Amino acid sequence: MRFLTLGAAAGGGLPQWNCGCTNCAAARAGDIPQASQSSVAVTLNGADWAILNASPDLRSQLAATPALHPRGLRDSPVRAVLVTNGDVDHIAGLISLRESQPFDLFATAAIQAELTGSPVFNVMSAVVTRRTIAPGHPFDLLPGLTATLFPVPGKVPLYQETGTVITDQITDQTVGVELTANGRRALYIPGCARVTDDLRARIDGADLLFFDGTLWRDDEMMTTGTGTKTGARMGHLSIDGPDGSIAALSGLTIGQRIFIHLNNTNPALDPRSPERAIAQAAGWQIAFDGQEIAP
Ligand code: MLT
Ligand code: MN
Ligand code: ZN
Repeated sequence: MRFLTLGAAAGGGLPQWNCGCTNCAAARAGDIPQASQSSVAVTLNGADWAILNASPDLRSQLAATPALHPRGLRDSPVRAVLVTNGDVDHIAGLISLRESQPFDLFATAAIQAELTGSPVFNVMSAVVTRRTIAPGHPFDLLPGLTATLFPVPGKVPLYQETGTVITDQITDQTVGVELTANGRRALYIPGCARVTDDLRARIDGADLLFFDGTLWRDDEMMTTGTGTKTGARMGHLSIDGPDGSIAALSGLTIGQRIFIHLNNTNPALDPRSPERAIAQAAGWQIAFDGQEIAP
C-alpha cells in the first residue's frame, strides 16, 4: 500500500480565499507551506489508484501529481473514488472528473443520496459507476485492496443543516475507511466528532492512521477571530486537551499516526509552532501536500 497526501487542509485550504489569519498570511508570504483541501490517493501497484475524497482542489492536485497523470490520449490511472461524507470539501472535486472517464464512485447510501440529490453531479458521465457500500461490508476498492467503511460520530453536511443539529451522530452520513492489503492495515478518518470505544478498538494495531486534525483547540475559531463555531459544533474533535484526540488515542499501538484535514487556523500547520512540537512529541505527524507514506 502506498499513499500520497493530495490535500492536507480542511475546507477552505491554506490560505483560504477570504482569510487573513496568521497562518493564511504566512502561507501567502511563503513563510509556511500552503496546503490544499482534504484528499488522499492510494495504490497497490503504482498503476491503479483510488482517491479518498474529491476536494474542490482535485484538478490542481492531479496536475501536480505525476503518478496520477494520463498515460494515453484519454486515460487516467484513477480507477476509484471513495467519499467519506457529503461535505463540500469532499465532493466538489467530483465535478472536475466529468470528461467521460470511467471509474467507480464508492460511498454509503446516505452519501450517495446527497450526490443524487444535487443534479449538478449528473455532469459525471454515465460511465461513472456509483457503488453503494454498506458499513461493515468489505469490498475491493482496487484489485487486491480491501476496504471497509465504518460509521464515526459526525453530522449532516453544513448545507443540509436545519433546526437543531446533532453533531456527533453515528450514522452512515460520516464514515471512516479501513484498508487492508498484503497483511498491512491503514485507516483514513478525516472527520470525527468523538472517539468511541469501538473506534479505539478498530484503530488499535493499525499500521497507519490518518485522523481528523481540523482544530488544535475547540474554541480556536473564536480566539483567532475567524468564526463563531466551536470544533464540537462543526462535528470535529479537537487535537488538544484532556478530551482531545492526542489523549483519546494515546496508549494505542499505531505504526504511523498522521493528522489530516487541518483547518487553516490550526497552529500546528506552522512547522515552527510549539503545537507542532507537542504533536510530534506525542508521536503524531502533520500531513502536507505531496507527502508519501508506505505503511
Ligand atoms: C467540515 O469539515 O466541517 C466541513 O467541510 C465544513 C464545510 O462544509 O465547509
Ligand atoms: Mn471538511
Ligand atoms: Zn486563515
